[in-house]
Order: sequence, then structure tokens, then C-alpha cells
Amino acid sequence: MRSYGYSEIATPTFESLELFTKKSGQDITKQLYNFQDKGEREICLRPELTAPVMRFYFNELRSRPKHLKIFYYGNCFRYERPQDGRYREFFQFGVELVGGSTTLGNAELIDCASSCLCASGLNGFKIRVGHLGVLRNLLNVYGITEEQRKYIMPLIDKGEYVGLEDYLVEQGYSEDQVMKILNIVQYKVELQDFLDLPDAVKPLLKESEDSLAALEELFQIAKYMDDMGTTNISIDLGIARGLDYYIGMVFEADLDELGAEKQICGGGHYSLSEVFDSPDDVTATGFAIGFDRVMLGLQRQNYELEKPDLDVFIVPMGDETLKTCLGLIRELRDNGLRTDMDQGGRALGKNLKYAQARGSKFAVFIGSDELTKGTAQLKNLDTREQVELPIAEILGKIRQQL
Ligand code: HAM
Repeated sequence: MRSYGYSEIATPTFESLELFTKKSGQDITKQLYNFQDKGEREICLRPELTAPVMRFYFNELRSRPKHLKIFYYGNCFRYERPQDGRYREFFQFGVELVGGSTTLGNAELIDCASSCLCASGLNGFKIRVGHLGVLRNLLNVYGITEEQRKYIMPLIDKGEYVGLEDYLVEQGYSEDQVMKILNIVQYKVELQDFLDLPDAVKPLLKESEDSLAALEELFQIAKYMDDMGTTNISIDLGIARGLDYYIGMVFEADLDELGAEKQICGGGHYSLSEVFDSPDDVTATGFAIGFDRVMLGLQRQNYELEKPDLDVFIVPMGDETLKTCLGLIRELRDNGLRTDMDQGGRALGKNLKYAQARGSKFAVFIGSDELTKGTAQLKNLDTREQVELPIAEILGKIRQQL
């Protein structure tokens, strides 16, 4: 994220409940850990970080030049039925791009999500990109009610197209309208096919200028992603997203081997200005990666998660060598080497075994002979090679071999 020019911020674990109910209604409390504090304030544990980051933005960062690139890593809490990959406390790693919501900005953000997921070491994830405006504007032309929208969006989100068709027919939508809606939500193609056949979906959208404009926006985003060489992308007009603040481009990343909870990242273009009674309509684009699910995925792919956290282990052999050893430890640590030492006068053999079990690449030991000569024994625990060197040369020698 830093390589894309994002800066990190941190926000509090709890937030005022209103931050989440203002946009989504009281119903959202079913999914929240909310309570009254001792001052009788209605607060909750944050279920996500987008609204908190935007609160931070409207309170503190408004005067900063835009676009503003913010990233975060933090715990989130949702009152959900816990299952494999779905927890009540989990971690999100996300970004918000405030005020840079051009098609180029949107494309770069998806590219950033893809790069982050690649950098985690995960293989085989897929990113699906859509645009809420394509279907939403057509449904508006068809005169959809708010109640109908609330019913059908979760069906689209879950891919329950038979239930969707039954409901639309039951609600009196014409055969032609139902056919168009079903074709749009099931339009899923690879990025290149979308770019090669830009007119494929247009006939379905003829009745809505705004839908065509949304499709054009998605096409521009797709083109930029192609230019950037973003990997693992497909186009999916059936993405609905569960949260209420999205207004444009939306995307999700899946890792199939995680089964039911396969979504490892989600995001899109949104507006939260009305929550903060902001006179200027600042829109933003962002995403959050489900950190726990990425870790689960890495585990399933047998990624080596446990990396040694030690470079050098120092063994003072006798109290009289301790001062010299402590001086050497200071020098190694100050130079960024992860260094630990024997804490209890264990025999050398046991200390070497311990250092190896910790994954340390080197052991250094100093006995009374070495002390007199101003030297130390440096042992490479991988090759078993041991050399005696002046203490002043230990750091340089380790650096050469690390
Ligand atoms: P979200 O899709 O609700 O979006 O969550 C993002 C990711 O967090 C999901 O894709 C999933 O990997 C992970 N996640 C969600 N719930 C759980 C859970 N109970 N246990 C484990 N992992 C979970 C958001 O939260 C938006 N704020 C993303 C965003 C940022 N949109 C714009 N900016």
C-alpha cells in the first residue's frame, strides 16, 4: 500500500452507534456489538473501518489537498454466527482513496488490491469488478420500490437467480424486463472479452441513459486496468455488495478453496457525506482485505507462515565475559540484527540446540580464552562452519553471510 502512495492511520475500536445506523437504519444493530457506556452514550465496536476513516477525514483531514490516500489495519467486530472463516472478531487491511474517484483512480485502486493480495503470497484468487449503476438505473426506469430493492439485492448478492425471477414475476414485472434483469446480473466475462466486445450488454440497457453511462464508466476502468497490467480480473454485473453506501464501481475477490466464506476482499466507490452532514459531496473509493481469510488461504496452500524471528544468538561462557557480550549485543541490535542471548548459564551444547530450534542462523560465543584475545567464536548454524574472529569483525562477517 505504501508503494501506491498510501499513508497509514488508526482509529478507535469503538465508535458512536449513529455512525452506522444513520445510513443503514436501526436494523444494522442486529449485526453489531452495541451498548451504552457509563455516560449513557450509544456506542458500538466498529464492524468495519470505512465509516470510521471517513469520520476521521471529515473531522481532521478535510483541508488536506486531494486526492487523499489512507490505509489501515485493524480489528472489526460483527455479531455473526461464527463458522469457518467467519468470526465475530476479525482483522481488515484496507484503503480509502478520498476525492480521487475518477475512472483512473478506481482502476488504480483495484490494481492496488490485486498487488496486495499477490504480495501476501496467495495464489489463484480472482477479482470480479462490476458497477452498481448499470442495474440500479435500469430498475429505477422500471419503477422499482425501495422495499423491492431491499428484497432483491441480497438475492443477487447470493446468486439466487431462480428466487429472483419468481419474485420479479410475482411483483408484476413484464417478461421482457425480467429477462433483461436476469441477463444483466448473470453477465460475467473475462476482462479481455469485455474489452473486445464492448457492445454486448448495451441492447439490454437501451431504456436507461444512466445505465449506459455507468457501463461506459466500467469500460474505462477496465481499459485502464488492462493498460496497468492488473492481473486476475473479470467483469461481473451481478455484484450487489452487502453495505449500503456504494454508488458506482464495486468489486470483490474470491479464493475458491475457502468454500462458503471465500470472499477475501471487497470494495467500491461510495458516498458517506450525508452521514456527516457535509455540504461538499466528497465521494471516495476503497476496499478491505479480510486478513484472517488470507491467512486461512495461505495455510491451505501450505505457505510457510512461521518464519524465524532471530538472526544471532549470543552465548556468554562465564560471568567475566558477560560485559563484552552485552557490548556486542548492543552493536548487533543497533545495526538491525535480530539478536537474543542465553539468559541462564546453560551449557554451550544446549544453547546451540536452543538457538537452532529458534531458527537463528548464527551463534556467537565468548569464553575466557577469547576474552583475553579480544575475539569471539562465530558459528553458522546452517553450514556448521565455525570461525574465530576479532569482536570488531563479527558484525561485518554476519552481514556478508545473511
Ligand atoms: P466487507 O465486504 O463487509 O467490506 O468486508 C471486507 C472483507 O472483510 C470481506 O471480503 C471478508 O474477507 C472480511 N470479512 C468480513 N466479515 C468477516 C468475518 N465475520 N470474519 C472474517 N472476515 C470477514 C467492508 O467492510 C468495507 N468497509 C470495504 C470497503 C472499504 N469498501 C470501501 N472501502
